[in-house]
Order: sequence, then C-alpha cells, then structure tokens
Amino acid sequence: MSDDLSIATGNKIEMYQSIIPQIAALIEGEQDLIANLANVAAALKEQFGWWWVGFYLVKNNELVLGPFQGPVACTRIHKGRGVCGAAWQQEKTIIVPDVEKFPGHIACSSLSKSEIVVPIFSQQQVVGVLDVDSEVLNFFDATDERYLKEIVDLLKIK
Ligand code: SME
Repeated sequence: MSDDLSIATGNKIEMYQSIIPQIAALIEGEQDLIANLANVAAALKEQFGWWWVGFYLVKNNELVLGPFQGPVACTRIHKGRGVCGAAWQQEKTIIVPDVEKFPGHIACSSLSKSEIVVPIFSQQQVVGVLDVDSEVLNFFDATDERYLKEIVDLLKIK
C-alpha cells in the first residue's frame, strides 16, 4: 500500500483505531526494517501532528537514531540515559508528563515538554524504542501506551 493515508478526526482512541490498520497494511509484506520504521513514523506524524516521533535502535549497546519525523535529534543515547535509555534499561514504557522533572532527560529540543517512550522487544530483548515528544505538558497517557504498544508489536523485528 502506498496511497495517501486516511486521516481521522475525533478523539485519540478513534485516531488510533483508524491509523493502526493502515499502518498494518503499510508494513505488510515488506521485510526491510528501516523502510517500515520510516513509514510508521510518517503515518503517526501525519495522523497526530506530534512534535517529534521516531525510533532509536540498539546497536553495539547504544541507542542510535533511526527513522523519525520532526526536528533533528541526538544521534546516540547510552543505556540508562534520558527517557529513551531508561525505557531500554527498565524494559518498560515510560510516560513523562513534564520532561524538566525527569532526572537526566536529554533535551534535544527545548520545545519538547512531555514524552512517551515504548520499548520494542524481539525474543525478550529490547532492540529499540519508539519515542514520541509533545510541546504540550502532560500530553500522553495509558491510551497512548496501549495503542503505541500495539503499533510496535506490528513491527515483528527479528
Ligand atoms: N528526550 C529523549 C531524547 C530523544 S529526543 O527527545 C528525540 C530522552 O530523554 O530520552
């Protein structure tokens, strides 16, 4: 599938429920990870208009910037550092309502105010993270966690 996305209006749940099957169709049948991550970032940016959305991938025991949409970002993050490195180390989703209150937050952009980071697993190991930033405080909640997990599960990284 490479046609235009259909962009939903309405509440957040309706938006996720509209975009998730379209993301599944976009990546179905394509094995190239970078191509799929790039399209997922683009689809999410188009649907939600988030400030920054993208992926970091574990390479040689560091997180390295992958496909994203938004302003330029830090390229490498050590395990345990920032929100991304913490989500990797703790192997769980982290929601940060106010990034200035998160110890060790890595400020790629001073406009970013809140954030959610969802680890991506392959064979019980974290192989990357999905990071979403908002310029609005307290923007992400359990609904985002639930649906973003569904989205990373679609990726089936080997
Ligand atoms: N804020 C992140 C760094 C990545 S950027 O925001 C794109 C963090 O503390 O992990």
